[in-house]
Amino acid sequence: MQDDDGQPRQSVPHFPTIQSLRGIAGALPRSLSWKDMQEIAHNDRAEEVARSLMASSDRRNDGVFIHPAALVESDQIGEGTRVWAFAHILPGVTIGRGCNVGDHCYIEQGVTIGNDAVIKNGVSIWDGVSIEDRVFVGPNVAFTNDLVPRAKAHRDVWDPTLIREGASLGANATIVCGTTIGRYALVGAGTVVTKDVPDFGLVVGNPGRLVGFVCRCGQKLAFVKNRAVCACGGRFRRTDQGVDEVQGVEEQR
Ligand SMILES: CC(C)(COP(=O)(O)OP(=O)(O)OC[C@H]1O[C@@H](n2cnc3c(N)ncnc32)[C@H](O)[C@@H]1OP(=O)(O)O)[C@@H](O)C(=O)NCCC(=O)NCCS
Ligand SMILES: [Zn+2]
Repeated sequence: MQDDDGQPRQSVPHFPTIQSLRGIAGALPRSLSWKDMQEIAHNDRAEEVARSLMASSDRRNDGVFIHPAALVESDQIGEGTRVWAFAHILPGVTIGRGCNVGDHCYIEQGVTIGNDAVIKNGVSIWDGVSIEDRVFVGPNVAFTNDLVPRAKAHRDVWDPTLIREGASLGANATIVCGTTIGRYALVGAGTVVTKDVPDFGLVVGNPGRLVGFVCRCGQKLAFVKNRAVCACGGRFRRTDQGVDEVQGVEEQR
């Protein structure tokens, strides 16, 4: 066969296009993992292999949506979690149920993410970072895992970072490693967190400063005589250590 200019046409290996894989994926319960894609890319009978992998996929990873253009090398991903285009999840990552991992995220081995967490676009999460249930990580949040980095100075243990249940990290925040962000804390956009943030704490600025406390719903709390009631009904008490949520019997005190 010849091209229009009369030159012999080079033989082109038969690789499936993303569009053709997406067409197949649409008819089946789950999309393809990176391992599946590699197997397909090296096989002449691409579509046939894709179909057979897809047909067995719900047994291997029930209810997980992986965009065909994502690279997912971990099989520890919980039901209902969705991983969007150009995200790369390494082997050894554990992600719970009902999470959402946005475009262009990179998640390194050793990372654990709980249930119902939302990781917006463009977030890299390094070994040593732990993220609990219902955490919101805003777009382009920068995590770190080495307090004193040097090129090619590899370590066995990284400086840990813990983001506790329900906390939210605003867009472009930087989380310096070795810190814990407390339950339902709120980190403002662009904040550089250098110290632990207490439960329900609101921090903004560089360096991040504690400027108040927020409810579970995210609204700022106004304290009168160390008590605050949010419009949503949430009740809080100031203590020497920070803020406690008041529930049930404690409310009578
Ligand atoms: C921190 C935040 C919750 C505060 O909201 P707010 O209570 O409505 O803030 P206000 O507008 O009342 O600001 C109060 C003060 O804090 C400052 N401030 C607000 N957000 C700030 C931030 N991220 N960094 C530094 N200062 C901030 C304001 O300039 C203002 O300062 P002033 O008193 O000197 O005028 C909000 O600004 C924020 O950063 N939200 C995160 C948004 C985000 O990243 N979403 C991600 C999903 S897309
Ligand atoms: Zn509230």
